[in-house]
Parts: sequence; structure tokens; C-alpha cells
Amino acid sequence: MTDASSSKPAKDDSGPAPASTLFIFGASGDLTKRLVMPALYNLAREGALDPAFQIVGVDIVPHTDEDYRTFLTEAAKEVAVGTGATPNPTAWSWLMERVHYIVGDFDSAETYHKVRAWLDQRKTETGQANAVFYMAVTPRFFASIAQKLGENGLFEESENAFRRIVVEKPFGTDLASAKALNAHLLQSASEHQIFRIDHFLGKETVQNVMAMRFGNGIFEPLWNRNFIDHVQITAAETVTVEQRGKFYDATGALRDMVPNHMFQLLAMVAMEPPNSFDADAIRTEKAKVIQAIGQMTPEEVERDTVRAQYLAGNIGGRHVKNYPWEDNVAHDSRRETYVALKLNVDNWRWSGVPFYIRTGKALAVRRTEIMIQFKRPPHRLFDETPTDAVEPNALVIRVQPNEGISLRLAAKIPGRQVRLAEVDMDFRYSDYFKAEPSTGYETLIYDCLTGDATLFQRADNIEAGWAVVQPILDQWEAGQGELHHYKAGSAGPAAADRLIERDGFNWLPLA
Ligand code: BG6
Repeated sequence: MTDASSSKPAKDDSGPAPASTLFIFGASGDLTKRLVMPALYNLAREGALDPAFQIVGVDIVPHTDEDYRTFLTEAAKEVAVGTGATPNPTAWSWLMERVHYIVGDFDSAETYHKVRAWLDQRKTETGQANAVFYMAVTPRFFASIAQKLGENGLFEESENAFRRIVVEKPFGTDLASAKALNAHLLQSASEHQIFRIDHFLGKETVQNVMAMRFGNGIFEPLWNRNFIDHVQITAAETVTVEQRGKFYDATGALRDMVPNHMFQLLAMVAMEPPNSFDADAIRTEKAKVIQAIGQMTPEEVERDTVRAQYLAGNIGGRHVKNYPWEDNVAHDSRRETYVALKLNVDNWRWSGVPFYIRTGKALAVRRTEIMIQFKRPPHRLFDETPTDAVEPNALVIRVQPNEGISLRLAAKIPGRQVRLAEVDMDFRYSDYFKAEPSTGYETLIYDCLTGDATLFQRADNIEAGWAVVQPILDQWEAGQGELHHYKAGSAGPAAADRLIERDGFNWLPLA
């Protein structure tokens, strides 16, 4: 992601992150087991953690240090670490030696006194008291934990004591709650101390969008309304709501995926080149482009959005129930599991270029990709092939799986006549680079430990995303707009096809 002229070192050549203590609030929870610990293990394996690095789990569940290590070791056996391989015993022991545990209620002052005492002791023993407070907790605790950390002076920084807080998604449930959460956090900590995670930004291919756009000379001249016809962004999942019915039925596809992940993808594609590779230069450009997304009127919500829910079907031989019959979902639920939107980015570069976004669960394939479709050639030159018989050029950035980039071109079919057909020029990451197994959280945790906020969301990014989504939420919550249905294992609802076909385009096939 970095180049020779950038101010930051290439990650792989960079040394271990500075010594610090990572306090994990919610140490016994699912996120810690599934993602945070596997990512820390991968960082330990790569030598990216300082020997003086420490982990302190904080949770109400009673554990001794030793118990907690056993708990994590058992969890690591269940949870795939990267590819599912058993952890390398040396790296795992290295990590476990650095694990400690504080039993504490997040609401009790005593918990924070223990955290403080730990850091004071570190300062005495090692001369540094750097700390990252990771909120692997349910969102209702984000603000209150931050407040108590603040009240106990735990955000006060000095030369040998940086203090940072990592806040997980979901960041609010609408514009008002996201603003309120930002305001609360900012009462206790400064913006530079707050690391709001969007795990999509930890994905290599998402970061590669910037490398592709700004590290190559050939794309940027074409990257505007004069040459681009429309953009499609897809995040299709085969998973259903699984065990997350309670959370998902209160949330839905729009809140779960759009103001965060989908808009981060959109921002990577649509932002202006930043002045530098600094976190704030990049985040400023992202905020600007998200702020330029047109906010819909009630009529536009009706016309340019599609919400849908899955019905029973089969995905790869697995039977899926009607969504309202899933565990912990209301039997009369009208919650959407799929959303498609047509958005406009109202700025100089993108005026008149529609951005179509779709995301849903229980679809035919798991695929996250961005398609940039270019305009057709202006003149019909090949008599045997009408220009509209061949699809226009399209650049497809595959975020996952089969990470890579392909360019759709027209080529001559061999033979005496000059007839054209579409061909793909395909670049696959795996052909060139050997990626180590990763959860996607490694980059994010490492960046937080080194103080690089580039891949984290700033308050204005988050609020801009919610501001776009809010009018849609308002209309839907008011019962406006039809709820469509689609069969589990299909490519989504017919209404989403109509949304894009109306403009003369087609979704990139999902099957
Ligand atoms: C999460 C959503 O943020 O992202 C999930 O809450 C979704 O519903 C997930 O499945 C998708 O992430 P990934 O990395 O599996 O594409």
C-alpha cells in the first residue's frame, strides 16, 4: 500500500509496533475469540509485536490469568486461526505469556482503578505506560466505558504514554445516535485517540483500490464523468442471519452494511486524490465524497431504493428457512435482508454518473466487487458487430474472494470477418503475491498500535454516511416503500434488476 515516495514505511519491512498494553474490554466475548486473538496471534507470528507488549482482558466473567489463557487456548482450537491451521506453539506461547486478566464490571469504578494501577505499575517497571483500550463489547457500553476511562484520567497522554480507544461497529443506529456517540467519546478522548473500526478497510483489495488509482498513470485520466458510464458496488453473502437474529432483526441490511462498508468502498473509488498519504489527508477526501452523495427526498426513496427479505430456498445444498422463521427473528418481521440503491455523487467529477449499490444475505454466491463501466465507443465502425452488441469496457475490482482485477475488452473473433467479442484481461493476486493467512484485523490492530489512523473512520466520515442513509430509514420506518422478497440462493429480488435496467444497465451476474 505504501510506495517509495510515501512518508510511511512498507508494513512488511516495519519493525514491531511500540510496546504497549492492549486492554480488551469484552475479553470473554465472541469478537475477542473469533477475530481479535487470532489477529494478535498472526501479528506475534510475524514478529510485529514488541517483546514488552502485554494484553489485559477485562470482563465480568471470573478468570485468573491462568484460566483466561486456557480459555483462549481452547477457543483458538475451535476458531480457525487464519486458514484454520493449529497455531504454531512457539508463537502461541509467546503471546500467552503476555496475557493477563482483570475481573471487572464495566459499570464499576473499581474496574478502572485496577486498569490504572496496572498502568502505573508498567510505568514504574518499564518507563512506559502506552495503552490501547479495545471495545469488544456490546455497543451500549461504548460511551460509558469511554467516560469512565476519561474520569479516571486514562486518556491523559504523555511522552511515554499514548492512550487510544478502538470502537467497533455498529457505530450508532442512525444519524442522531451516531452523532451522540461521537459527542460522548469526544468528551472523554480527542479525535486522534479514537480509532473507529470498519473491518472492510483491513482487506488488502480495498486498500489496493488506492494503489490502483493513484499508483498508476493510466486510470486517473479516465476516472470521471466523461468516460465512466456508471459504477456498481456489490457485497453479496451466502450466509443467512445465523445466530445473530436478535441483532440483525433490529438492524437490517441497510444499517448493517451501507453507511459503513459500502460507503467505504464507494469512497475509495470516488474520492479525489489526497494531497499526501497522511491519515487526515485521506480521511478528508473520503468525508468530502460521502458528503457529496445526494440525500434522497421521499419520492427518490420510493424510486431509487429496493428493500427485500429472503424466502426459503437452497444455498449449495443447504436448506434455508423463510427469514421470519430464523432463530430470534420476529415471525412478522419486515426487516430487510437485502438492499439495492441508486445513488448520485453530486460533485464535479461524478455529476450524472449513477452509483448502484447492492448487498444482501442468503444469495447465490459470496462476492464483494466493484465494477466501473466505461462509456461505449462513440462511433459504429465494425459493420458486422453493432457497437451495442458488445458490452462496454468494464474494470472489475474483486475484493473477495479470488482477489484481483479484470478489464473487459472487445477483441476480434478470429476469422475472415471483423466481428468482435468480449474478453477479460485478468489479474489475480494469488498469481503474484503469497498472502499470509489473515483475519483482516491484523493491519487494523497493528496500525492502531503504531498510531496510524488512515484505515479508521473519522467522526465526520461516520456522520456523513448516516446522513445519506437517514432519509431512507425514515421512509422505511414510516412503513413507506414495498418490502420485496427473493428466494434464498438466488441473485436477489427482481425489483433490484428493474432498478438498474430502467437506466439501460444490468447488474454484473451473480451466479
Ligand atoms: C459485518 C456485518 O460488519 O460484515 C455482517 O455485520 C457481514 O452482517 C460482515 O456478514 C461481512 O464481512 P465480510 O468480511 O465477511 O465480508
